[in-house]
Amino acid sequence: MAQKKYVGIDLGTSTSGLAHVKADGTPEIVPNNDGERLTPSIVYFDRYDGVKLVGSAARDGGDPDRTVHNIKKHMDDPSYTIEMDGQKWTPTEISALILAKLKQDCSNIIGEIDEVVITVPANFNELARNATTTACRLAGLKVSRLVNEPTAAALYYAHTQDISGKVMVYDLGGGTLDITILNIKGQKIDILLSEGARHLGGSNFDEILIEILAQEYQKKNGADLFQDERQRRKVLTTSEDAKKMLSKLKHITETVGNDTDGSARIDLTRELFEDAISKLLTRTVMLVEQALDSLDLKPSDIDHVVMVGGSTRMPIVPQTLRDRFGFKPVSCGNVDECVCLGAALFAKQARQVSEVCNQSYGTVAIIEDAATGKSELRNSIVIPKNTPIPCSMSQTYITSEDNEELIEVEITQGEDTDPQYVDIVGKISLKVPAGRPAGCEVTVTYSYDQNQRVKASVTDEKSGKRHNIEIEYKGDGVLSEKDIERKSAYLKQITIV
Ligand SMILES: Nc1ncnc2c1ncn2[C@@H]1O[C@H](COP(=O)(O)OP(=O)(O)OP(=O)(O)O)[C@@H](O)[C@H]1O
Ligand SMILES: [Mg+2]
Repeated sequence: MAQKKYVGIDLGTSTSGLAHVKADGTPEIVPNNDGERLTPSIVYFDRYDGVKLVGSAARDGGDPDRTVHNIKKHMDDPSYTIEMDGQKWTPTEISALILAKLKQDCSNIIGEIDEVVITVPANFNELARNATTTACRLAGLKVSRLVNEPTAAALYYAHTQDISGKVMVYDLGGGTLDITILNIKGQKIDILLSEGARHLGGSNFDEILIEILAQEYQKKNGADLFQDERQRRKVLTTSEDAKKMLSKLKHITETVGNDTDGSARIDLTRELFEDAISKLLTRTVMLVEQALDSLDLKPSDIDHVVMVGGSTRMPIVPQTLRDRFGFKPVSCGNVDECVCLGAALFAKQARQVSEVCNQSYGTVAIIEDAATGKSELRNSIVIPKNTPIPCSMSQTYITSEDNEELIEVEITQGEDTDPQYVDIVGKISLKVPAGRPAGCEVTVTYSYDQNQRVKASVTDEKSGKRHNIEIEYKGDGVLSEKDIERKSAYLKQITIV
């Protein structure tokens, strides 16, 4: 009998990685065939032989029009596609190419990989979670569990440091910010809350720096640094390199240019850059405060602030956190590897970890506003976000019309009270006996399991009739089983290097 493998994958906006747990219980990063510990999440579509280049080779060479970066930012967009040689690629399919490269390369070292724990930002919605699981399946990987990125990082941190108390994980990566507060007590980790912002991360800082470069170039050469999107994307790589250099040096000189207007040497200072990104950093601190407030905590109630994600290498990040908390934050070892290492530990179930639910679930109901007396259609929350899971919660409603024979319950996901701003992730219909007056009681129960899967049931109290469903997001952008099989077979034939 073969020994079970414990494998974790971090599918990041900028870089992805795979780790396994060694026989002695320690997690270890498995390098790719290019000899790198992490694989840039970049795909280059070769024009000639249809080869898909994934990783550093895709970043460093070729045509920006055929290169896809930061695809994770679009995992929650059902209509987003990239067209290449007349073929449309969804974010799920492009992510599957990155995962297929990890599977293929890493299995050369640790043997066949079939089942994985994969991480997602804590604030990923149902569609993006579903897209991540599907991407794994397209790449020939079975997902044993989806884990939130800061939770995985916390597990790794707790594994390497013998600590207890309240911990805040501040994960500022390439595309997302996640803030998680948790309690570590002995071998047990309790997640108390996760907050975050989609689309706030390193790529935003690159965009700000490229604007500075363009302005300085205009001053020096009296011309636009880039005339089109294609040229702009080329300079974006220089901008990211300059940003990284400014984390180490206070003054740098960067050379940028284009074919028509020549090149220019531009002096940049860390101070100027930090000034330019200060608004975004303030937003991260506001989210930290919001997270503390939601739990009625003060900064002094937090025992350790743990930094995760490549963007925390910017010296302004620890400085800002130190100012807010009054003590030095610590870095989670290698900040861009710890999520992946934690995912592998998760696969091994190294510790008991209890999570909270990431989103509120509710239903659309007519609610009377206590102040105005007016009745309106509202999103009525049954399970609030950040409730410890597994959990089961119920809410009773009354039918609003006489002779209702079909009770229809819409299952919502989201925080807003206005039904317009939440997602409808499922519907349950329940046939009830005819001829009843309005005002019959109907109980809606949601249960949330460890894997963030939600089940809903509706019970008609009078007749005792009940209907249960497991909620699976079936909205736009979700592939059918048949499509998954077909696309997975297609991806198997593609050469990925
Ligand atoms: N020395 C550095 N200084 C500044 N930024 C850095 C440095 N090193 C890496 N970064 C930035 O960190 C980001 C990548 O971090 P990381 O690998 O943690 O993100 P990710 O996991 O791919 O993204 P996400 O978690 O948001 O999906 C990139 O934007 C990169 O430019
Ligand atoms: Mg990350």
